[in-house]
Amino acid sequence: MKFVKDLKRTDYCGQVSQTLVGQKVVVMGWVDTRRDHGSLVFIDLRDREGIVQVVLDPNKAETGCAKDLRGEYVLAVEGIVRARPDGMVNTKLKTGAVEIEAVRAEILNVAATPPFQVNDENVNEMLRLKFRYLDLRSPRLQQHLMTRHKVAQHVRRFLSENGFVEVETPILYKSTPEGARDYLVPSRVNPGHFYALPQSPQTLKQLLMISGYDRYFQLARCFRDEDLRADRQPEFSQIDIEMSFIDVEDIVSMNEKMLRSIWKEFRGVDIGEVPRMTFQEAMDRYGSDKPDTRFGLEIKDLSALVASSGFKVFDDVIARNGIVRGIPVPKGGAFSRGQFDKLTEIAKKAGAKGLVWIKSEADGTYSSPISKFFAPEKLEALVKAVGGDKGDAALIVADDYEPACNTLGTLRLHLGRELKLIDTTKDKFLWVVDFPLLEYSPDDKRWVARHHPFTSPTDEFFDDLVANKESSFGKMLAKAYDLVCNGYEIGGGSIRIYRNEIQQAIFRVLGLSEEETQLKFGFFLEALKYGTPPHGGIAWGMDRLVMILCGTEAIREVIAFPKTAKATDLMAEAPSTVNYDQLNEVGIKLTAAAEKFIADSKK
Ligand code: AMO
Ligand code: AMP
Repeated sequence: MKFVKDLKRTDYCGQVSQTLVGQKVVVMGWVDTRRDHGSLVFIDLRDREGIVQVVLDPNKAETGCAKDLRGEYVLAVEGIVRARPDGMVNTKLKTGAVEIEAVRAEILNVAATPPFQVNDENVNEMLRLKFRYLDLRSPRLQQHLMTRHKVAQHVRRFLSENGFVEVETPILYKSTPEGARDYLVPSRVNPGHFYALPQSPQTLKQLLMISGYDRYFQLARCFRDEDLRADRQPEFSQIDIEMSFIDVEDIVSMNEKMLRSIWKEFRGVDIGEVPRMTFQEAMDRYGSDKPDTRFGLEIKDLSALVASSGFKVFDDVIARNGIVRGIPVPKGGAFSRGQFDKLTEIAKKAGAKGLVWIKSEADGTYSSPISKFFAPEKLEALVKAVGGDKGDAALIVADDYEPACNTLGTLRLHLGRELKLIDTTKDKFLWVVDFPLLEYSPDDKRWVARHHPFTSPTDEFFDDLVANKESSFGKMLAKAYDLVCNGYEIGGGSIRIYRNEIQQAIFRVLGLSEEETQLKFGFFLEALKYGTPPHGGIAWGMDRLVMILCGTEAIREVIAFPKTAKATDLMAEAPSTVNYDQLNEVGIKLTAAAEKFIADSKK
């Protein structure tokens, strides 16, 4: 085993092509597979660019190491490229028309037997995450990371060409609230003091506008301690953007231009104009503020049709100003009782108290758990009203506005997937606009910012804000916008408050005391006093964007070293305990609960 000084790599394995036939090449890579035919050994040699077939004679001294090769051994091969014989061409492989006839091969390193075969997608994900460096050898993940790199390059170039300046902002900083918990870092030199890792560079990019940088961007790392989902990680990257002297229209058109250029480059398609929809319409029609508009099954209001039926659930909800709405289930007439039970469970998990279904049976009758309250004609009318026909079914939810919309939105998505109604050949985009500025949190018994506390209300609400007029809070609209693709929120932003007294008013509305405001945002309020230009911006979820471009539904697939749903890294075993000296140094003492957790996790 040696590193061969006289062998210099000439080509990547995956790039050996027909143009090289007859020429001598040197390739280096990992043994993907080895087939031993006695007098000849065939190796698929893999590197970043792909796989090439190498033919070695194990009985010749220069290629004798072919006998010793195992999976993932690191190998250097010098050989002659030749066209594969007729009938041996592998059309699935980029290099499938050629092979390398080895004249010399050297093992550069051996490899322990890997715990799984690289590129075997049926391996348990936990195991793959523990050996992430092996999983990352798979062509699939290598392609994802390559795409990610290209997207980053594309975005950097696009924004630079459009006058944006990339500025790095600190990671050790102060709380920048985006609705999640902060990750805290203790300060050794200032015991009892903590940095917060940025949930986003929100205040920092606004400060850069105050400083006159006019157009800023950053591929920014963000940290949020929140419940994880398939499209969420505790640390993730944003394409963070801020602009001065602009309004909603400028940001929207600038970002649409970037979106178009990305899809042109990476999908080869012209996506045209991106439609806009108000938050209200998105909720009404799709039961979601990030609707997947690749399929129908829109929500329809049934309140008038079901009024005073005697069915208590509906009557009560209507009496308290709630809503009764439904969606169709194409061919749902053939659904079994068990299938409706499953849908009811999904509805309950989404927060509904129950689910009414009506199905149009093959014999022309209608069945439903509420058939004693509604005549057959009424049941038929309800199925029609949600857009169903003979042989279809209707799902109906009665509740207050938000839970009813959310439940129907969840059911709609479930059915879209289950019934394969989604046209996955096209990406569908949407700007969702006119978000509510505030929402009431029954848990915290106070108003919270729907986007973040720096978002501007529409102009007509300034006075009510400053006057702290609570009766207006629920009606206030924000100058905020989200960019949605295929049901994913891939970006979100807003026009900012740029006047000190409005910013102070918002903090008051959000229930922050004078003292808290000073402690958390004193520096920012101070900065707003010194000539703040009107400004606004947006942040794209870089990981989600790449996820869509790679055609995967898991954000972990486009991050080199992602975390599990419990926010742990299985490979390096992070987070981990530290020794008491380190804790002492930063002035931290563990609680009994933490000690117990440590003891339990050792068991
Ligand atoms: P927001 O919180 O909407 O806005 O975030 C912007 C975009 O970041 C992505 N994103 C995430 N991606 C992966 N994992 C997460 N945990 C996660 N959280 C958010 C989403 C989202 O659309 N400072 C504001 C932006 C602004 O107002 O300019 C902000 O961070 O794709
Ligand atoms: P019940 O009167 O509780 O037996 O409910 C009769 C039917 O109404 C059942 O199918 C329930 O799942 C359904 N149901 C109960 N509450 C609601 C609701 N809020 N919205 C829609 N259906 C409901």
